[in-house]
Amino acid sequence: MAGGLSRRARTGIQVGRALLEDPIQAWDWAQNGLEIVRGLRERRTETPSYMPEGDWLERLHALLGAEWPCPAAPDFSELWDDVVSSLGSAGPGYGERYDSDASLGRALWCLVRHTKPTRVVETGVARGINSRVMLEALEVNGAGRLYSIDLPPVLEEWRTQSRAAVPAGLRSRWTYLTGSSRRHLPRLAADLSTVDLFVHDSLHSAANMRFEMTTMWPLLAPGGALVADDVESNGAFASFIAGSGAASVVGPQDVTKRGLFGVALKPASR
Ligand SMILES: C[S@@+](CC[C@H](N)C(=O)[O-])C[C@H]1O[C@@H](n2cnc3c(N)ncnc32)[C@H](O)[C@@H]1O
Repeated sequence: MAGGLSRRARTGIQVGRALLEDPIQAWDWAQNGLEIVRGLRERRTETPSYMPEGDWLERLHALLGAEWPCPAAPDFSELWDDVVSSLGSAGPGYGERYDSDASLGRALWCLVRHTKPTRVVETGVARGINSRVMLEALEVNGAGRLYSIDLPPVLEEWRTQSRAAVPAGLRSRWTYLTGSSRRHLPRLAADLSTVDLFVHDSLHSAANMRFEMTTMWPLLAPGGALVADDVESNGAFASFIAGSGAASVVGPQDVTKRGLFGVALKPASR
């Protein structure tokens, strides 16, 4: 107890305040809550058994037809050190709760540098670690735009850190939409009509992952990639791959996270 209130009571007050401040976000958070409860039931009956691949990065390069060892690797290591140190001490330490990790960051860096996408869509931003990595890669490419959809976290210490990893000077190629992917993705998909890279890192319920993957896969250009984080959460990615017949790679997140992410590639020509 600090200041007379328990941590749980303070969290309850923060959540109540957030709900009153923005009724549309409150509705999206409520929908998320219902989906999480439904997902708990589904998770028990649908547990995937992936074999994380030790050579996942080399395999990804082979599937992309990109040079190996990767010539863009040293630039990523330098960028990553900067991403982590730039988060500073204003919010939670790097690697906690919502933050992405270096393995997924590296996969996204290589995908953007090697496939040179024109349109990238991501769901789930939080502090924007993946957004920063992809925007830096687009900047090096000298072309392309990132469209991000994020329902900001309900907890104040995370909500106030929204997009903190993305410096103002890097935002000219960025369109950021606040709210759930259910609210924004169908319209964005209709507006863009084709996309070269899609990254799911929002709500990892099976229903939401299926919704996002099946909405975006038809829009992916030949040779485009779909990336999903936390694929071990449920069977959605595994059944999506089985149904689409896409070539895929499953990689391990780094030691700060210990989950898995998946990359599915659309055949270059159909
Ligand atoms: C795991 S974090 C994303 C981490 C981020 N990709 C990064 O690079 O650090 C998940 C984010 O998705 C948001 N989110 C949760 N449900 C969502 C939904 N239905 N639609 C869009 N964003 C959602 C969370 O509030 C949070 O900001």
